[in-house]
Amino acid sequence: MIRAALLLALLLLQPLTATAQPKAETVTSKGGVVVCVSPPAADVGLKVLKAGGNAVDAAVATAFAMAVTWPEAGNIGGGGFMMIAPAGKDPTCIEYRETSPVAAKPDLFADGKVTWLNHKAAGVPGTVRGLALAHKKYGKLEWKTLVLPAAELAENGFTVNAVLAGGLNKVLADAKTTNAEFKRVYGKPGGEKWRGGDKLVLKDLGHTLRVIAEKGADAFYTGELADLLEKEMKAEGGLITKADLEAYKANERKPIHATFRGFDVYGPPPPSSGGVAIAEMLNILENFDLKKQGRWAPETSHLMIEAMKRAYTDRARHLGDPDFTKIPAELTTKDYAKKLAATIDLQKATPSAELAPEIPLDKQSDSTTHFSVVDKDGLAVSNTYTLENSYGNRVVVHGAGYILNNEMTDFNTRPGFTSTKGDIGTKPNQIAPGKRMLSSMTPVIVLKDGKPVLITGSPGGRTIINTVLCIVLNVTEFGMPIDEAVSAPRLHHQWFPDAARFEGVKSHPELVTKLKALGHTITEARQGDGHSIWIDPKTGLRTGAADKRLDGKAVGE
Ligand code: DON
Repeated sequence: MIRAALLLALLLLQPLTATAQPKAETVTSKGGVVVCVSPPAADVGLKVLKAGGNAVDAAVATAFAMAVTWPEAGNIGGGGFMMIAPAGKDPTCIEYRETSPVAAKPDLFADGKVTWLNHKAAGVPGTVRGLALAHKKYGKLEWKTLVLPAAELAENGFTVNAVLAGGLNKVLADAKTTNAEFKRVYGKPGGEKWRGGDKLVLKDLGHTLRVIAEKGADAFYTGELADLLEKEMKAEGGLITKADLEAYKANERKPIHATFRGFDVYGPPPPSSGGVAIAEMLNILENFDLKKQGRWAPETSHLMIEAMKRAYTDRARHLGDPDFTKIPAELTTKDYAKKLAATIDLQKATPSAELAPEIPLDKQSDSTTHFSVVDKDGLAVSNTYTLENSYGNRVVVHGAGYILNNEMTDFNTRPGFTSTKGDIGTKPNQIAPGKRMLSSMTPVIVLKDGKPVLITGSPGGRTIINTVLCIVLNVTEFGMPIDEAVSAPRLHHQWFPDAARFEGVKSHPELVTKLKALGHTITEARQGDGHSIWIDPKTGLRTGAADKRLDGKAVGE
């Protein structure tokens, strides 16, 4: 009898447990908080805070540590964006996106012979100079003390958990992974599969990090380490030269600022598309009372999808490296959004093809990573960085031990070819020497009355911007606590393909039926990994929420 009741209870529970998103794991503190996907890297950040470092110091140390402990996206061979909100001042953005080598031509990928796994797919890495710029302008502790913990993790080895073991086994077993140095460095000695509890030692990477710690960031761009990268490129037909490396510069840029329901939302400016698109979508949605409709009302999801389509159309139409392409200022204005809002039919999905008739149309993994940090004084840091694909182009630089990005594939790889499948071939994001490829990375800091309240961001390629939109709306419009805001099922539409992706297909079947009736195509896919922090404006209490869709840890002082 009891067994039958138990079985029945299990059967009843199953749809719920099988479909709900994993609950975010939280930590609450009056002091500093670090939240990231990799537990040992979160611990490094916390140690720096406890040693008197500020949030920028902790972010720099966490980023270097993740280059060791989260090799699929943590990096020194890639690039990213770091948003910083210094107490009492406007937030700023340290942009360290990769650049195109001078030798790259716009049609580099056009004939399909050069793939994302090629040495030619690598952009000039920005991370080391980016972290150095953030540290120089906003850090407090000595540079060396922030890089050495990562060097030590690599030299002495660290414990691989089940998630990392699974990721490594997958990439090593994939027939596409052919680079011998990658296999030597990341393969388990003896050729067996990695298991949780194993130790991973990365000697060459440890040495590289020690050189960066002792000699500073320039050692990566001009010294012995630059020699190693140039040698690797020459041996394998890659494009990056020592001159490209030496010329690389990280920039401090003014963020994109949007206002929404009394909150100030700051995101990265171009060459990220994130800040512009978030501002455009929030400005459109501000014209409707979503809260009254309810978070899971079909009207709300319909409006979100329609806002997404319009912002992503503008992304394809206008966005690229601002040093090479003129970006219309009106994209982030309230007036422009009002006009776009007026084009939304409340009863019917707008076909994507109607949104940009001037663009001729021929007919994801978690390989980026985001972390959030706040210190005891309220300095907030939101950092997203990447190698583009998981483990970048799966090439380890001989002797230097780090993985190269394949960020050149973020340019519009087939000039002129924009398709209903999602290819974009428009001019603003075509390859040019020294140009930065357009990114979707969207580390965001939201302020209320001048003080940071929300730090968030995510991996997920083009889905990143919409993951961030969902989290920002969940908090600002719907007042959800941060763990719910992070766990709640996410929505994505990117103009083309003309279909929305929704994590809640199984948990919200009625909503899906109604959206389909409005003319939307809905598919299901997991989306993002949004490690976030909420700072209660009344109590000052910080709650870090680790998104458990993948892995992650929130730690507090
Ligand atoms: O910068 C970008 O937008 C991409 N390189 C990000 C890639 C990414 O997020 C892949 N996976 N999650």
